[in-house]
Amino acid sequence: RKRLGILISGRGSNMAALIDAAAAPDCPWQVVLVASNNPDAAGLARAAAAGVPTVAFSHKGTAREAFDVRLTQALRAHGAEWVALAGYMRLLSPAFVADWAGRLVNIHPSLLPRHKGLDTHARALAAGDREAGASVHHVTELLDDGPVIAQARVPILPGDTPETLAARVLTVENRLYPKALAKAMTDAE
Ligand code: GAR
Repeated sequence: RKRLGILISGRGSNMAALIDAAAAPDCPWQVVLVASNNPDAAGLARAAAAGVPTVAFSHKGTAREAFDVRLTQALRAHGAEWVALAGYMRLLSPAFVADWAGRLVNIHPSLLPRHKGLDTHARALAAGDREAGASVHHVTELLDDGPVIAQARVPILPGDTPETLAARVLTVENRLYPKALAKAMTDAE
């Protein structure tokens, strides 16, 4: 089984989906570490409750490159071979991306290449889009860029707000991420 590290900044529902999926006997990964740049991330408690080691250090006052070196050190110390970003809300340094190239994936709540960056749901509504969704993609140095592994679509409904749309997208995110990660790992073999 591939040893997977997960980076989070907050709630951790996608992290939990990846941890839960690893309970299946044929799952191609085991989660060896959850790391956060936010010591208050709710996902940390959820990971600990599932018996997964966690580490958190605030990025405040630390240069991005130095912070990312600490992340890589923590991941290596736990033997991580792959890294999944799950609501990790910081841009990663080019050195981090190079270190994990080909084994670094992210989930983004839009149908990439549409709506990279923040406030995706408000922008999908403002653009008059008829559908929204989520994308799992390989990570490059550019924000929410890199080859798409898999996507899931949801309709945008009359009366949707950014909140109702986010909730609908999150439901499919939590199902999409384990499937897409399994595909990425199989494709990489
Ligand atoms: C998810 O919607 C994820 O796609 C998004 O943050 C949320 C985290 O939720 N990520 C990004 O916007 C990255 N650019 P979670 O903590 O419950 O997984």
